[in-house]
Amino acid sequence: MESIKHKNILVVGATGGIGSIVVKLLINSGGNLFIAGRNEKLLYEIADQHKIDAGACYIGDLTNQENVLELKEKYFKKYPTIDMLINTSGIGIIKTTDHLSESDFYKTIMVNLFAPYLLIKAFLPSMKESKKGLVVHIPGVLGKVPMLGAAAYSASKYGLVGMLQSIREEIKRTDIRITNLFMGGVDSPFWENIDLKVQKEKMITAEEAAKAIWFLCQQPTSGVISEMVLQPFNHQAI
Ligand SMILES: NC(=O)c1ccc[n+]([C@@H]2O[C@H](COP(=O)([O-])OP(=O)(O)OC[C@H]3O[C@@H](n4cnc5c(N)ncnc54)[C@H](OP(=O)(O)O)[C@@H]3O)[C@@H](O)[C@H]2O)c1
Repeated sequence: MESIKHKNILVVGATGGIGSIVVKLLINSGGNLFIAGRNEKLLYEIADQHKIDAGACYIGDLTNQENVLELKEKYFKKYPTIDMLINTSGIGIIKTTDHLSESDFYKTIMVNLFAPYLLIKAFLPSMKESKKGLVVHIPGVLGKVPMLGAAAYSASKYGLVGMLQSIREEIKRTDIRITNLFMGGVDSPFWENIDLKVQKEKMITAEEAAKAIWFLCQQPTSGVISEMVLQPFNHQAI
């Protein structure tokens, strides 16, 4: 396994159910963390918990280009290079098209697709310069197999997968690795605003989901896990 110790790692979505545990696991493994989220109170609580100084924290909306440029500036003030970009941010709006508004569709695309584009624009050049790095996203299984009500969500996640697949062609002559995690339902605050009957007790725990990312971060650099599928037992057919 590759050591996480002293690796410079940016986790966005660090205030989320999965992201906050990823931060804990990576910091306990000796990583140099930089964390970003929108919820200021929560982000600073997480930073305090793990003794991450304010210079390694960024609060902002990742759909806003100026915010992402600010994040980039602050990140590179803290660390000269980036070894891993872990994107655990995202939103879910699950509605059939009769109920899905233009604003729902736009918001979903902005957070789940446009923000990752802005992040890649901001941080891939540094990885290209050093010819190495790891980029992790969570398209989820709805980025592989759509379900009823997921028109906007699947559009954003399929788009993300397509974008990353194309970017893989850009980094062919480098050791930059792109890993997509296709996860089924995870018991996290993600479901709080989704009007759908779900059985949270049958979902993957956020800890288990975060451990999958932690595992991916330790893969030997001679190869790349281009994708991992992690499903709750009751959905393992996909
Ligand atoms: N939970 C699941 O069942 C599941 C399944 C498959 C895939 N996924 C994917 O896994 C990822 C993490 O999900 P989760 O379960 O941890 O969800 P979560 O608990 O709701 O966390 C979502 C994170 O995204 C951040 N975020 C949302 N909009 C943002 C914006 N405009 N700018 C910056 N940050 C923003 C949130 O920040 P603030 O709270 O600070 O606003 C939060 O940190 C998402 O990409 C999701 O699509 C989740």
